[in-house]
Amino acid sequence: MLSIKIPLKGINEIKNILIKENLMDKNYKIKTDEYYGYIPTKTQNIEELNKKLKSKKIFKLNIEDIDFEPFRKEPRSISEGLKDKLTNEEIKDLKTSFDIIGDLTLVEIPAKLEKHKLTIGKVVLDFTKTKSVFMKKSEIKGITRTREIELISGEDNSKTIHKEHGIKLALDIKNVYFSPRLATERKRVEEEVNEGELILDMFTGVGPYPILIAKNKNVEIWGVDINKIAIDYLKENININKLKGIIHPINNDINEVEFKELKFNRVIMNLPQTAYNFLDLAFSLIEYNGVIHYYEIANSYESIINRIDKIAIKHDKKVEILNKRKVKSTSPCMWHIGIDLKIK
Ligand SMILES: C[S@@+](CC[C@H](N)C(=O)[O-])C[C@H]1O[C@@H](n2cnc3c(N)ncnc32)[C@H](O)[C@@H]1O
Repeated sequence: MLSIKIPLKGINEIKNILIKENLMDKNYKIKTDEYYGYIPTKTQNIEELNKKLKSKKIFKLNIEDIDFEPFRKEPRSISEGLKDKLTNEEIKDLKTSFDIIGDLTLVEIPAKLEKHKLTIGKVVLDFTKTKSVFMKKSEIKGITRTREIELISGEDNSKTIHKEHGIKLALDIKNVYFSPRLATERKRVEEEVNEGELILDMFTGVGPYPILIAKNKNVEIWGVDINKIAIDYLKENININKLKGIIHPINNDINEVEFKELKFNRVIMNLPQTAYNFLDLAFSLIEYNGVIHYYEIANSYESIINRIDKIAIKHDKKVEILNKRKVKSTSPCMWHIGIDLKIK
């Protein structure tokens, strides 16, 4: 294609003039050799250009026909990447929100667009620059709170190392629960922890709460989970992070764990679908003035606080609600709600 050949020392000046006159072809990269630069141009009319430059006392330019390397045009969004591949209607139906967990991407594709899953997967892979793209095949379900997933692009390996707030979390998205959307919530809890606390994470998963807390505070944490694979990852995570505190990983049903006389300054209860079944247990394990971080899926704070009040009366304790917040939306009108309560 046509280029303007110019001694290297004048290349920036000419480039700026060509851009100003809208004569440079910005789809291609400028080329150079030892003495000359070659600017891709849209003009064939070198005489006219030379005339324009004459008044600026710029040396004469020559046109030469050479090959240029095109700039790779990256889509600015997944929707843009899918523009020529799906109809506008289909793109509208596709939720383009996705989770990046380590070097994996997890996307949700509506049933009626599943026929395009490989095309969508390829575009998401290019856009996110992750190693693999998996599609959600089910809701989060069962006691281990995991979901079925299907590879739609990239490498078939669901194990990864996710990084957040200075910690590393090894995990396998096929076999354990993990949500990167809770990173801010975990940081918020970690910042409330005091040095020297005894903490129980009743539903620890791969240990994102204990790892973040023990990374920053000299504390002792018991992390319990019924899912053996999650606890194996917690053990790996203890090894790959430099921790100030101590973590005791326990693979068991929290109802079965014996803590003997042990009472905790803080209890974390992130099992929002059914945590209310374990509130009684949490009240029996918490120290006076201890704090429970309680999570539930609900449409208002009221129903949760009523439930907490009833349990408090049963245990002859008073509670102070320190904080309540909507952590994330789970479906229309329903929220993953977090409540911090102090036991008096
Ligand atoms: C929503 S996940 C939360 C995991 C982790 N806390 C996080 O934030 O990533 C809930 C976890 O509770 C575990 N779980 C469910 N029932 C349990 C029980 N009765 N005892 C101990 N762990 C349980 C599941 O295996 C799952 O890993």
